[in-house]
Amino acid sequence: MAEKPRIAIFISGSGTNMAALLYASLLDNSHYQVVLVASNIPDAAGLEIARAEGVETFVHSHKGHSREAHDAAMEAALIGAETEYLVLAGYMRILSDEFVRRWEGRILNIHPSLLPKYKGLDTFARAIAAGDSHAGASVHVVTPELDAGEVLAQARVTIRGSETPGSLAERVKYAEHQLYPRAVADYVSARKAS
Ligand code: GAR
Repeated sequence: MAEKPRIAIFISGSGTNMAALLYASLLDNSHYQVVLVASNIPDAAGLEIARAEGVETFVHSHKGHSREAHDAAMEAALIGAETEYLVLAGYMRILSDEFVRRWEGRILNIHPSLLPKYKGLDTFARAIAAGDSHAGASVHVVTPELDAGEVLAQARVTIRGSETPGSLAERVKYAEHQLYPRAVADYVSARKAS
């Protein structure tokens, strides 16, 4: 059987989406393999989850480095792990335009809003303030323009009258964990077939 597409995941925080992606990849008949989990935050909780499953990890703090130098270190790790796709999962750094262009069509991100609504930060507070009936998450292809690449899949989460940004964030995470592994699998499978 041909080797499954090799993905790396960048995280900055708790890494629950990374864990969802990783454990989905360990199921029978999965469509990709996780070859690297890398972070700009040395004690990002998700790193331990990756290590527990024997996945290679890489850490490079962004502090004290230019964006270009930091990106170069992260990219060297990607290349070292023979990565085919880069999947951003709560990676709170903006990649340089040059980096994104070199990996064009091979970087995916999950953003906690129903794009094209609410690019950037504070998405839940903005959706509540606008009186929206739904919030959600979008998986999209990363392009140099922030949160503007092609949307591949979305999950919708109802906004209730009593909602706070915190309560909404918690439920959107559950939806993200269902959405992201499937969207990544669909994307890499479609590209493999084409
Ligand atoms: C997720 O909700 C993701 O949508 C969001 O960060 C969270 C990471 O959670 N991403 C962004 O805001 C990117 N702009 P996790 O570390 O538990 O996966």
